[in-house]
Amino acid sequence: MIRFGVLGAGRIGKVHARTIAASKQATVAYLADAMPEAAASLAAEVGAMVASVEDIIKAKDVDAVLIATPTGTHADLIEAASNAGKAILCEKPVSLSVERILACLKVVEKNKSNLMIGFNRRFDPNFAALAHRLHAGAIGNLELATIISRDPAPPPADYVKGSGGLFRDMMIHDFDLARFLVGEEFVTVHALGSALVDEAIGAAGDVDTAAVHMQTASGKIAVITNSRRATYGYDQRIEVHGSKGMLRAGNVHNTTVELANADGFQGDPVLNFFTERYGQAYANEVLAFIDGMAKGVSARPNGHDGLQAQKLADAATESWSSGKPVKVG
Ligand SMILES: NC(=O)c1ccc[n+]([C@@H]2O[C@H](COP(=O)([O-])OP(=O)(O)OC[C@H]3O[C@@H](n4cnc5c(N)ncnc54)[C@H](O)[C@@H]3O)[C@@H](O)[C@H]2O)c1
Repeated sequence: MIRFGVLGAGRIGKVHARTIAASKQATVAYLADAMPEAAASLAAEVGAMVASVEDIIKAKDVDAVLIATPTGTHADLIEAASNAGKAILCEKPVSLSVERILACLKVVEKNKSNLMIGFNRRFDPNFAALAHRLHAGAIGNLELATIISRDPAPPPADYVKGSGGLFRDMMIHDFDLARFLVGEEFVTVHALGSALVDEAIGAAGDVDTAAVHMQTASGKIAVITNSRRATYGYDQRIEVHGSKGMLRAGNVHNTTVELANADGFQGDPVLNFFTERYGQAYANEVLAFIDGMAKGVSARPNGHDGLQAQKLADAATESWSSGKPVKVG
């Protein structure tokens, strides 16, 4: 039985702790949160003991640490858990600073730690099935990847101020997905962005509507579009086009029921937001980490994937503010 220490009992910590508790191969041994009530309530639900972050990291009867605390704590906690010899599953991002990620990954590399980063979209059953067929050659040589990601409604402007901006906070998932699909590094990034949804987001120095074009050294192109608002719900679609055809994965609806009448065809709304839409992806991600541990292999996406996605987010932010394409080193 793999014994986990879960750090953070907030929105995503709850989702992950429940998956571990339901797994036959793992258990939540300990749980920590800065808010004692949050820790106590989730610990009771998943059958864990409440402990401090420090005690969990140094506990001899903890094999793996799952980090679901706020972004600013991730790099320090990864380093501490790595130095304590634990396997680590950390929520995205490692850090909003590429320099800080590089320093953190040096520690991880020195200790040869198993570090997985929570880019859950790779584990969405529909996106994973598309990627599987793509990588098996179903459309020949991939030439163009298109990723559409739109939130149902914008976050409060206060959240935006501390988020690192749309490219680092929201599009980071799409940068990882684009690398995963295309299988090559992007060397050029060109971004456009506007605040069209909420003036307060613009006043906070961010955008809520963005489009990014990226190109690999061999010429493959990815196009990502993001919006902080979609009147019809959480819009998550991808399409890949290649020499022998096209693959696409559409939205997931509440049900597949359609009403047809003289006004046309009408379907159910799409699943509302990330906890619903990516519920299975979050579970599959944690189970892939557990399965990897049981087999003695490190799961992807790893720290390097976290670094590369952050570099693309930084390049997009720079391109948006300068209005020029940016080369990624
Ligand atoms: N992969 C995804 O789709 C996804 C989705 C949501 C959040 N996240 C990431 O997960 C992280 C947490 O996000 P969230 O939405 O769950 O936030 P949240 O605010 O709901 O939960 C964070 C929890 O951590 C606790 N906490 C804060 N500082 C702590 C510390 N030093 N030690 C222990 N506990 C501490 C808080 O009390 C809170 O309960 C963020 O980095 C975010 O980027 C990823």
